[in-house]
Amino acid sequence: MKLERYSRSARRLHTAVYLLTLFLLATGWWLLVGREGEPSPVARLLGLPDAALHVWVGWGLAIAALLPLVLARRGVAAFMRETLRRDPGDLGWLLRWPLAIVTGRFARHEGHFDPGQRIANVAIVGLLVALIASGIGLVLVHFGPVFVVLAAVHRLATFAFTVVIAGHILVAAGILPGYRGAWRSMHLGGRVRIDQRLKRRPGDREASSR
Ligand code: HEM
Ligand code: HEM
Repeated sequence: MKLERYSRSARRLHTAVYLLTLFLLATGWWLLVGREGEPSPVARLLGLPDAALHVWVGWGLAIAALLPLVLARRGVAAFMRETLRRDPGDLGWLLRWPLAIVTGRFARHEGHFDPGQRIANVAIVGLLVALIASGIGLVLVHFGPVFVVLAAVHRLATFAFTVVIAGHILVAAGILPGYRGAWRSMHLGGRVRIDQRLKRRPGDREASSR
């Protein structure tokens, strides 16, 4: 039997956010390593400077991040509730996690997200908020002490976000033995087998197997 862990709209939002975010990471790092004078291959292709492309796509991300707050308030509330919950076995789950990555024998946990995902969610959402807020600040302020603070926040958040997202992709791509097949929950119809780490939980919707 297969399960649908995320609704179609949640999967679409996730894909939109990650395409925009990966583009911003790429152009952001291009600017950061001082390549601004030299257009990146994508800037050459589109005939626009990297900084301009970065800001346009940045606005796209800001809109994509705001949309669920208007259109899917119940989904946002459920995401927050499931992310901020704490259950008695959480610490034990986290202690067994490093071994379970390899063996696939995860401890039982309550709720939609495992305790590791809950920590990742706080880091991902917190850093995205910092990046969007400081990015909009940088569009508006071009010099002075406020600019210096915004630029430092934008840069430090980029470093932290790069590490967190690399970890998220490593886990979610399903390369590690304990997470084999996990990528399916967000792609190609979103159906995962229930014998994997992603056990059936209240709120998971049963999907008819194809
Ligand atoms: C995933 C999200 C984002 C990442 C990883 C990111 C990363 C970066 C990085 C690394 C830089 C270069 C900083 C430096 O050279 O010190 C940069 C510059 C900048 N970012 Fe972002 N950014 C993101 C989102 C945004 C958003 C949402 C906006 C605004 C709508 C934005 C606006 C800017 C601006 C205005 C600059 C300066 C561009 C220039 O050099 O003229 N960024 N970003
Ligand atoms: C680059 C920006 C990305 C952001 C901001 C992001 C954000 C998130 C968030 C907040 C979740 C919720 C649960 C969790 O933390 O696991 C999630 C789940 C997930 N993400 Fe991403 N993600 C990104 C990129 C990717 C990429 C490139 C993949 C491709 C493999 C991916 C695959 C997944 C999968 C499969 C899940 C569901 C895990 C489960 O079954 O619970 N993500 N993502």
